[in-house]
Amino acid sequence: MTKQLRRRKARIAAIWSGVLAGVAAAAAMTTVMAGSATAATTLGASAAERGRYFGTAVAANKLSESAYTTILNREFNSVTPENEMKIDATEPNQNQFNYANADRIVQHARSQGMQVRGHTLAWHSQQPGWMQNMSGTALRNAMLNHVTQVATHFRGQVVAWDVVNEAFADGSSGARRDSNLQRTGNDWIEAAFRAARAADPNAKLCYNDYNTDDWTHAKTQAVYRMVQDFKQRGVPIDCVGLQSHINNQSPYPSNYRTTLSSFAALGVDVQITELDIEGANATWYRNVVNDCLAVPRCNGITVWGIRDSDSWRASQTPLLFTGAGAKKPAYDAVLQALNNGVIPTTSPTTGQPTTPPPVTTPPPVTTPPPGPGGCTATVSLQSWTGGFVATVRVTAGSSGTNGWRVTMTLPSGATITNAWNTTRSGNTGTVNFTNVAYNGRLTAGQTTEFGFQGNGVGTGMTPTCTAT
Ligand code: G3I
Repeated sequence: MTKQLRRRKARIAAIWSGVLAGVAAAAAMTTVMAGSATAATTLGASAAERGRYFGTAVAANKLSESAYTTILNREFNSVTPENEMKIDATEPNQNQFNYANADRIVQHARSQGMQVRGHTLAWHSQQPGWMQNMSGTALRNAMLNHVTQVATHFRGQVVAWDVVNEAFADGSSGARRDSNLQRTGNDWIEAAFRAARAADPNAKLCYNDYNTDDWTHAKTQAVYRMVQDFKQRGVPIDCVGLQSHINNQSPYPSNYRTTLSSFAALGVDVQITELDIEGANATWYRNVVNDCLAVPRCNGITVWGIRDSDSWRASQTPLLFTGAGAKKPAYDAVLQALNNGVIPTTSPTTGQPTTPPPVTTPPPVTTPPPGPGGCTATVSLQSWTGGFVATVRVTAGSSGTNGWRVTMTLPSGATITNAWNTTRSGNTGTVNFTNVAYNGRLTAGQTTEFGFQGNGVGTGMTPTCTAT
């Protein structure tokens, strides 16, 4: 073969390899494009591709309606019981719990592989009559007992709880809403979150409210400051729920994305929890979805009902399906916005790569020795025939604590059934209660509370506190 021929062959080979590389690249591109060409056809599937959920509020009494469940099962991968987990539904009489309707929804969701958002553990509204008539320590303890019992019942089945709902006032004050719960003391919200964490350590704990969409509103700012404060002080909070009931009086705000990203920057997830839009304005629906997709920690959207006829404000036709179950233009806008969203290569919730990072040995934890200031503890009791709830307040001495242990001897015959914000050594006789991860470290004079519920008579317990 001449030199010239060899060169020509090499050139042809180079051209071919270029062509083949081009074909391969084109094939690879086709694979990527095929992802968008075969766009998801349901809301849940499209959201899931983007590491998110798309959910709806569900009413237990509609689960027997096939027109309803057909849409539910096809479109959504998350459900929130609309009324069935509320206080009046789950504890109609004090200490008598009824989970029948909530359990039906949870069972349905699980059978369809959907996740469940819990709504809601502590709220000024939809309280049963017995709770409406309570105040002070009795109400505080009843509320904590409710949080504990309900979160324990659904432990492992609810991915996120609206622990506290609608605790801030509307208008320009930025104040807490007045309510019987608020009157038990400003710390009622954090007490509820701590009880929920103790009862279900794996559920995400959210604060949920409405009229918190516009970043400039006093109510939004007030909720923001509370979440910031909770994060700074180690109060367990994982997420903020924006209900987003949007209507012509409270239109979609152009700074909605700022609101979502500002909350997310505090280190919490953001969830749009009760979305509905008066007249189902397709542009506003699209904007909401685009805003959520633009914020990595906005990890899910729930619409507050399936068909317009299912809505709490049906006359405003605010949902994605007509009463007859047909998809509305807003549905198409939402699905299209979801499908146009980037498919992340990192987890939207954590911002971490989807492949786990290499394992590294954590640095040794050095704990300073216990301070000489010790701690003290007092107990207050809420009793009824056959049972009691004890609330124990731990106060750090002059040096603060790294951890604490409270020892108490229960009266004979008394048995602990459950406890919150503490780890306990047993349930009868002399019991040691130690701090949990988030409430052991107290500065001088700082207090924290834990509690437990028991059968029998709880009077006469004397707590002793040791700083550890
Ligand atoms: O089930 C009874 C029925 O037996 C009775 O005949 C009828 C007569 O009034 O009432 C029915 O109960 C109603 C229940 O919805 C079920 O439809 C209640 O009266 C009614 O008050 C209740 O309204 C719920 C509302 O919360 C109560 O505050 C809505 O369904 C529910 O969508 C709505 O949801 C709230 C969120 O929890 C929190 N954010 C705001 C959102 C909208 O208000």
